[in-house]
Parts: sequence; C-alpha cells; structure tokens
Amino acid sequence: MPQRCQRKLIKRGAEADIFVISWFGEKAISKIRKPKPYRNALLDSDIRKKRTIHEANMLSATKLAGVTTPFIYFVDPKDAEIVMEWVEGDNVKDLIDSELSAEIGRYAARMHSRNIIHGDLTTSNFIFNKKDHKLTVIDFGLSYYSERFEDKAVDVRLIKEIFVSAYANDYEGLYSSFLLGYRDISGDGHMTARILSTVQAIEKRGRYARMT
Ligand SMILES: Nc1ncnc2c1ncn2[C@@H]1O[C@H](COP(=O)(O)OP(=O)(O)O)[C@@H](O)[C@H]1O
Ligand SMILES: [Mg+2]
Repeated sequence: MPQRCQRKLIKRGAEADIFVISWFGEKAISKIRKPKPYRNALLDSDIRKKRTIHEANMLSATKLAGVTTPFIYFVDPKDAEIVMEWVEGDNVKDLIDSELSAEIGRYAARMHSRNIIHGDLTTSNFIFNKKDHKLTVIDFGLSYYSERFEDKAVDVRLIKEIFVSAYANDYEGLYSSFLLGYRDISGDGHMTARILSTVQAIEKRGRYARMT
C-alpha cells in the first residue's frame, strides 16, 4: 500500500501500533497488530488475523447499536491491519465531566443491550469533539459478546475504578452521572438492578481479597 510510506506512529501499544496515515487523501488511522516473537509463527499469524477481524466486527456491531464508533475503511486480516476513520477531538481522560460521564453511561448501556462487552471501558478509550459535540468510543481489542450480567458489571466496575483512581475529587459525582446515563437507556428494571448489584459484589470480593 503506497500510503504506508507517509505513516506516522502515534502510539506503540503492547498488542498493536497506531499510525496516522493518508487514505486516498483523507487522514486515517491504521491499527496494526504486532507479531509476538515468543509465539509459534503460524499460530501467531492466525491469532492476529482472527483478532483483527473480531475487532472490526465489534466496531461495526457497536455502530449498529446506535453508538458512535470510527468508520472502518479497510481490513487486511493477513497483515492484521484495520484502517479506520481518524476521529478528530480530545481524549476524554483529559476533559471528563458529568455530562460526558452520562454520555459514556448511555453508550455502555446501548452496548450492553446488544450483549456487547467493551472489555476496556476507560476514559482513555473515548474521544470527544467539542466542535460537533460528538463522543466516539474506540479500542474494541478486548471486546466480546456476552449476555451475562456479571460481564456487563465488569465493564461498569472498570469505569468506576478509573473515576476513583484518576478523578478522586469528584469520583462520586462522575459515577452517579454515569449511572443516570446508563439508566436512561437500560431503565430501572430487573436487569439493570442485577448488573449494578453485581458491581457492588465484585467490589466486596476485591476488598476481602485485599484483606486476606
Ligand atoms: N480512530 C481513531 N481516531 C483518532 N485517534 C485514534 C483512533 N484510534 C486510536 N486513536 C489514538 O490511538 C490511541 C490508542 O488506540 P487504541 O485503539 O485505544 O489502542 P490501544 O489498544 O493501544 O489502547 C488512542 O488513545 C487514541 O489517542
Ligand atoms: Mg486504548
């Protein structure tokens, strides 16, 4: 691909590298899963191929659930590459407030209503564009399908933990806004109650584990 010549590395991750590229004249993102030298080469290429296809599918499925995700332009399973829309905006970890937190809650509930577990629901995986007031969720590398409320609770638990650890001054406000947004979509029924009570159960287990 000729575009590769002009690519610029913006993040070197454990699993994948992220490049800004030009895609038929448009600014785009290329996410490439890296080979793991300690894995058997054939197995490694198979794993990267499957994870690439899986991530692209989950991005699309989430868009169908009414949640803003980057558009996918191109998927190359052989080279473990996804080319997607470059989302303009700021990382939400630097500008989280109650309004954005409520929107994250709505996004999480929409994903969960389709049994999509994001798997890495942190403020770093959201981009907010101030100009058009649009929130986009990225990074479906750890996402999976599950209808178990325990798995949905793990998503909620993670974002709560991020609020507690990174925004200690206002974690209660941020978490209650998140819950307001979540309930906006998922309602106050049995399923929501079970998910949220499981969040508390996971927290208790964590506390006991630390005490022993
Ligand atoms: N579609 C995108 N548009 C703009 N920036 C992106 C996009 N995808 C990823 N990024 C940037 O690259 C970073 C890492 O991407 P991510 O998919 O979260 O990979 P990782 O698995 O390494 O966390 C993001 O935090 C964001 O800054
Ligand atoms: Mg990420």
